[in-house]
Amino acid sequence: MSKTVELIYQGKSYTLPIIEGTCGEQAVDISALRNTTGLITYDPGFVSTGSCQSDITFLDGEKGILLYRGIPIEQLAEHSNFIETSFLLIHGHLPNQSELDYFKHHVTHHSMVHESIKNLYDGFPNNPHPMAVCSAVVGSLATFYQDQLNVQNEREIEIAIHRLLAKLPTIAAYSYKKSIGQPFSYPQNALSYTENFLHMMFSNPCEDYEVDPLVAKVLDILLILHADHEQNCSTSTVRLVGSSRCNLYSSVSAGIYALWGPLHGGANQAVIEMLQTIQDAGGNVRQFVDKAKDNDDPFRLMGFGHRVYKNFDPRSKIIKKLAHEVFDKLGLNEPLLDIALQLEEIALKDDYFISKKLYPNVDFYSGLIYKALQIPVNMFPVMFAIGRLPGWIAHWIELQGDKDFKIGRPRQIYQGQEKTDYTPLKKRK
Ligand code: CMC
Repeated sequence: MSKTVELIYQGKSYTLPIIEGTCGEQAVDISALRNTTGLITYDPGFVSTGSCQSDITFLDGEKGILLYRGIPIEQLAEHSNFIETSFLLIHGHLPNQSELDYFKHHVTHHSMVHESIKNLYDGFPNNPHPMAVCSAVVGSLATFYQDQLNVQNEREIEIAIHRLLAKLPTIAAYSYKKSIGQPFSYPQNALSYTENFLHMMFSNPCEDYEVDPLVAKVLDILLILHADHEQNCSTSTVRLVGSSRCNLYSSVSAGIYALWGPLHGGANQAVIEMLQTIQDAGGNVRQFVDKAKDNDDPFRLMGFGHRVYKNFDPRSKIIKKLAHEVFDKLGLNEPLLDIALQLEEIALKDDYFISKKLYPNVDFYSGLIYKALQIPVNMFPVMFAIGRLPGWIAHWIELQGDKDFKIGRPRQIYQGQEKTDYTPLKKRK
């Protein structure tokens, strides 16, 4: 017998169905609530609200499980690569050889951007934040392909997917080159996805640049770890924008802005800045842990806590191990790593963090690795965006084909002034 919930309101009883997910999640279906009862629900930050049914990613925050299309993140990080994982997220299954070859070919051969796009970079002030530039330039793609924005046309969507995956690294690397006043490096189709990105970031016309295979491999793993995380802030943004049947380029552009904030993808930059502040202030880690615990102090430990993970973030476990490997293999001595380790140790033993279930999240160590790979700090959120792109695309596509599709339009509970008459200017106090 299917499960239901009984709601009693003003003496009348209403039966609400329960929806069950394949991994055991249960949700009360309130979609008919307003029509049948006149009531709406109130849930700031959507803490208890499921916005959709999705086949893409499962995560269990209590057990620290993350699955892309059913496959554990640990296995993908070990055996897959970012291109294959992108295919998996977008198409729902691991590709066979010919599917992979086709996908790889197109994601590689769309990497060049229209020459006019380069002029856009000159319109920005000197040293703009690359997240702002990336979002603006990705948004501009809708103007370059404006006759191919039909959200119901599968072929146009397929090309948009290839273009976005191929061009975002180019757009991102150009934003960095612009900020340091160097000429743009064109993409090299003979290189792998991450090798090509590193080449565009660090090569210049005056000398040869050889990509370190370790750096390219580590970057690839980091992108896999970022590739999707179900209904997070930026993915929900992409879905909400896409729910107006807005094209993929513009929806992704909005997602990049949502990711930028320090509570979301901007946290990896904020972590490094916080570690630097602690070091500059003499390295007294305990003092900063106490600040984070003080309710009257807005300071928070960046890279700690997560809306969903209340045990540990499985991505942070992989990244922590990777960080040690990178530092050992590259022979680096990073003083901020020591501070990070101290901070983690103190926080994990502290009652405040234990009772609130605040553990290091994906951003705690990713910034340190990016730093070791010579990625500039303000590019960290951009790295997150490149990684999250296949997830955004997968969710946008799923939404467009959803049998329960509706434009996203939450309700509100109005608490403002009741109906009042207009006061002419002369009569106002
Ligand atoms: N340092 C100190 N206290 C914290 C922290 C922190 N990093 N995170 C949460 N808390 C406290 C918070 O003050 C609150 O205390 P109280 O119950 O006394 O009011 C309690 O823990 C619950 O926090 P919340 O803000 O209600 O939790 P949330 O689920 O709304 O926020 C979060 C999640 C990630 C925004 C938050 O933990 C945070 O601000 N962390 C730092 C920023 C960060 O690392 N963000 C990256 C998230 S992972 C990557 C991604 O998916 O984008």
